[in-house]
Amino acid sequence: MALVNRSLVTIDDLSNGEMEALFSLADEMSDSMGKQLGLCRGKVMASLFFEPSTRTRLSFETAIHRLGGSVVTAVDVKATSLAKGESIADMARVIGSYADIIVIRHPWEGAVKVVADYAGVPVINAGDGGHQHPTQTLLDLYTIKKARQTIKGLKIALWGDLKYGRTVHSLMFALAKLGADILFCPSPGLEVPQHIIDKLVTEYGGELEKYDAANSAVKKMPSTLDAIYITPGSPHQLAMMPNLSLQVELEKGVDALYVTRPQKERFAASKEGKESEERYPVVDKKLLKEKEFKKTLIMHPLPRVDELAYELDTDPRSMYFKQAALGVPVRMALIASLLGVKEISPAQEDSLPQTDYPVYQREYGVRCPNPRCVSVQETEIKYLKPEFKIVKSRPLTLRCAYCEHGFEPKYIASTEWHEGILAEKKYHSADSHWTRKIKPENLIIFDSESDAGAHGFKPSHYAKGEHETGDDRGKMSKEQ
Ligand code: CP
Repeated sequence: MALVNRSLVTIDDLSNGEMEALFSLADEMSDSMGKQLGLCRGKVMASLFFEPSTRTRLSFETAIHRLGGSVVTAVDVKATSLAKGESIADMARVIGSYADIIVIRHPWEGAVKVVADYAGVPVINAGDGGHQHPTQTLLDLYTIKKARQTIKGLKIALWGDLKYGRTVHSLMFALAKLGADILFCPSPGLEVPQHIIDKLVTEYGGELEKYDAANSAVKKMPSTLDAIYITPGSPHQLAMMPNLSLQVELEKGVDALYVTRPQKERFAASKEGKESEERYPVVDKKLLKEKEFKKTLIMHPLPRVDELAYELDTDPRSMYFKQAALGVPVRMALIASLLGVKEISPAQEDSLPQTDYPVYQREYGVRCPNPRCVSVQETEIKYLKPEFKIVKSRPLTLRCAYCEHGFEPKYIASTEWHEGILAEKKYHSADSHWTRKIKPENLIIFDSESDAGAHGFKPSHYAKGEHETGDDRGKMSKEQ
C-alpha cells in the first residue's frame, strides 16, 4: 500500500513512480466516474481553507463527494478557535480525531507540516503561503502528460512571480525530478529565491545557464526578463550536446509556458508591489505569434488577473481551464490512495535519494528569518521549537525544517566551552574555521552578537571573521 496513511506536504513526499501511478489511477477514475461512489463511503474529509480558494477547495470537496465520502469545513480562521489563541498543533490533534483526512490551506509557510506532525491522519497541503502547492503540481504534470505523453526532455518556461508563487515552487522541483528543462522567466524583482536555486542545483543535479536576452536570437522572449535555464543532471539535452547553444535550443520551441499572477497578498512592501505590477509581463496573442511558441501549451494555475489575455481563451494551445477540470480526478486518486481504499503500484522507484543533512534544533539562538514562517508566527506558543537542516558548512547555510527558507547565519559557538570555565564561553564568526571544527551536536548558532552576548558568550578572536595565521592556530585550542 504505497501511499496509505501518508501525508503530502511538499512535492518531495512523492517519488516519480508514485506520481506516475497516481496519474494512472486518475485516468481510471475519469473513465468511470460514476463507479467510484462506494470507495470512500463513511469517510470524512476536513477541508480547512484559511486563505481564499475556488479551484483547490471545491475540487477537493467534489473529489470526496464523487468518492462517496463527506466533508466538514472551516474557511475562516476567525470562525475557529485559532482566533482565541489555540495552537495549530492542538487544532490538528482535535480535527484528526474527527476526520479521516485533512486538506488545509494556510497563509503561514510550514503550517501544513505542523498539522501533519500532530494530526495522526493523512494531511494534504492545499497551499502554505508562498512555500508549496503540491496537488496543483500533480494536476499540472497530469495536464502536460496528457498533451505530450512525457515530461522528460520537455522545455518548460515558468513565467511571472517566481518569488512568491507556491505553484511554481512545487512545479520546478517536480520538473527537475522528472527530467524536464526549466526556463525561468521572472517578472523583474520576483526572481526565484536563491535557496530554491541552490536546492535545484545541489539536490536535483540542475545546471544553471544564464540566458542573455539582450543578445538573443530569440527576440520575443521579452528582453525585460532575466531568464535562467535549469537542466537536470543526467542525462539532459544540453549536457549531451555541449556545442548546441541555449539560444538554438530555445528556437526549437518551448513545450509549455506556465504563467502566474503577481501574488500581491505576499508582497512585502508597497514599493515592491507597485514596481512589480508596473513591469509585470503579459502573455497575449502577439507574444504567442513567435515560432518558438507555435506548439506551446499555455498553462496557468488560475486565478488570473491581467497577465494572461482573455483573447487566448479560444486558442487551442490554452490549457488552463482543462488544468482546473483535471484537478478533480487527480485529487480523487490522491484521497483514495492516502485513505488506503485504492492501492497504487509504482512501477519504478527512481526519485533522487533524500539528502541526509545534520539537524540543528535548540531552544535559544537562531530563528528562521522568514517572517511568514510558522516557526516565527507560533513563537508565542512554546511547543514549536525552531529546527533547521545544516545544508552547507562553507558558508554555513541552514534550511528551515518548516518553510525550507535557506540562509547564512552569522555567529556560532560550542556547548563545550573551554574546560567548562564559564568565563571562556566564546562566540565566533560563522565564516571562521570553527564552523567546521565544532561537531554539529555541539553547535550553537546565533543571529547576532547581542543574542550571543545575552546568553553569556563573549567575542572570540574570530568573532569578526577568519584571520587565521600560523600564530593564531596556537590560540585556537584555548578559544573554543
Ligand atoms: N490554483 C489554485 O490554487 O486556485 P485557487 O486559489 O482558486 O484554489
